[in-house]
Amino acid sequence: MVNYKDLGLVNTRDMFARAIKGGYAIPAFNFNNMEQLQAIIKAAVETKSPVILQVSKGARNYANQTLLRYMAEGAVAYAKELGCEHPEIVLHLDHGDSFELCKSCVDLGFSSVMIDGSHLPYEENVALTKKVVEYAHQYDVTVEGELGVLAGVEDEVSAEHHTYTNPEEVIDFSTRTGCDSLAISIGTSHGAYKFKPEQCHVDPQTGRLVPPPLAFDVLDAVMEKLPGFPIVLHGSSSVPQEYVDMINQYGGKLEAAIGIPEEELRKAAKSAVCKINIDSDSRLAMTAAVRKVFVEKPAEFDPRKYLGPARDEMEKMYKHKILNVLGSDGKLAH
Ligand code: G3H
Ligand code: 13P
Ligand code: ZN
Repeated sequence: MVNYKDLGLVNTRDMFARAIKGGYAIPAFNFNNMEQLQAIIKAAVETKSPVILQVSKGARNYANQTLLRYMAEGAVAYAKELGCEHPEIVLHLDHGDSFELCKSCVDLGFSSVMIDGSHLPYEENVALTKKVVEYAHQYDVTVEGELGVLAGVEDEVSAEHHTYTNPEEVIDFSTRTGCDSLAISIGTSHGAYKFKPEQCHVDPQTGRLVPPPLAFDVLDAVMEKLPGFPIVLHGSSSVPQEYVDMINQYGGKLEAAIGIPEEELRKAAKSAVCKINIDSDSRLAMTAAVRKVFVEKPAEFDPRKYLGPARDEMEKMYKHKILNVLGSDGKLAH
């Protein structure tokens, strides 16, 4: 049994309370390799932002849960070496799907876990989330629950259509489970294809497809029921058009990839939404940069020569999110 506090990590409780009060959101970036982690930590240190490192099921399968945990411990030391005396880094399990998995992450040194029972019947979601909370809270590990279903792929669970969170359920769910934050469904979804082109309209100025707005009425109703309660948005990549164009220019084939407009995320970050999950944008930045090197320097075969530019591009993207979308820059407690 390792306690995250001994690794220099923090849970989400205090940072979420400050984020709600301050009208900004904490970035929750997924990682499964060293370059992503380096880019996240550099971006967080340089902008003086708290940050959540997320580990998904896919990441655990790819990189190994134990290794990722040691990388997060290393990230704390790296942030200090970069000049941040008191980094606020959370190691979070993304989309935990069983009590056993959540327990194994708590025992390994994670400081926060998500138990995603959103696809279960309501009472089963309540019971499972409550069980995880009871275990995690013994070690002061914070727990994120989820109500409502996001369209697309949630790790290995995939849903054709989203079901918005029912605001009538949130008081009962948060009270009975004791969860520390709640992921809700208001029209975001995972991946780079969040909307079908036929759901969008064309912006006459840019010629770009503009998706339908998020259901801010649902968010407002949730906030009215649970004033000051930390809300989480999954599926919040913006799918920057410049990365999609770059990937396609250098031999890729991404058709009609559409994300959440940044203005919508800026608006959400000012509300009780205090954790915004971003994974796909990192994948796009990395792929765009790697493809560019492969096309422009076909003789290159040293991975550092293409993973280095990929890391730089991801760092630029992470900083942009912190500074221009979420507003978590300069928000470290010390
Ligand atoms: O929730 C979805 C995240 O983007 C993680 O996806 O399981 O492919 O790593 P993954
Ligand atoms: P994106 O696919 O929009 O980056 O969402 C990531 C996410 O929600 C991870 O849990
Ligand atoms: Zn998610």
